[in-house]
Amino acid sequence: MFDKPHGDARQHAPATERNASFIIDILKDVLPKQGHVLEIASGSGEHIIAFANAMPALTWQPSDPFEESRSSIDAWAQQVTPSRIDPALNLDMTRPDWSGKLSKPVNAILSINMIHIAPWEACQGLMQGAGQLLNKEEVLYTYGPYKKGGVHTSESNQDFEGWLKAKSELYGIRDIADVAGEAKNHGLVLEQEIAMPANNFSLVFKKI
Ligand SMILES: C[S@@+](CC[C@H](N)C(=O)[O-])C[C@H]1O[C@@H](n2cnc3c(N)ncnc32)[C@H](O)[C@@H]1O
Repeated sequence: MFDKPHGDARQHAPATERNASFIIDILKDVLPKQGHVLEIASGSGEHIIAFANAMPALTWQPSDPFEESRSSIDAWAQQVTPSRIDPALNLDMTRPDWSGKLSKPVNAILSINMIHIAPWEACQGLMQGAGQLLNKEEVLYTYGPYKKGGVHTSESNQDFEGWLKAKSELYGIRDIADVAGEAKNHGLVLEQEIAMPANNFSLVFKKI
């Protein structure tokens, strides 16, 4: 139950409560045991605090291009003690220089529910920056709805695509093959494709 006092910057995205535990199960398997993890498009910040609580040996760098989201992330992050979440950065995947804004090396990158709700250039920028930042064997994890073989994996995803297109013609559910092809251009190979609840997929890419 989320009881928001007046003046509280924390936002609440109900889907994070539904999917966090399933995502954590995968992350525990694919993330390094120690190191610094960058999250792209952290949104409300609820995922990263759940991840930080579930994987206390890791440190975390949230980010989002929207100021309100960054305030929400930083407010939620105060609940994690001792502190292992850095202040949220303003990272926009459509800006070719985004990877230069990080002050520390990262050992893994997460991007949850961003690729479909941004222009294709954001996916290209994500892959380009991840290719620059990650070392051999390090992981980029993406999560969200995807098409397979050019078709939607469910009727609800097809309906969702209509909603996305009404928001912007540039948004849309991408095909796993296109995302993997873009990743490959930047030295990232799709190693695992895991079906998740509610017609989503986890994609695990490794730097080669
Ligand atoms: C549907 S929300 C997902 C938020 C969070 N990851 C989650 O799953 O609850 C989409 C997020 O993508 C972010 N976003 C949109 N365009 C972006 C871009 N060009 N670069 C980085 N993030 C972007 C938005 O600010 C928003 O936080």
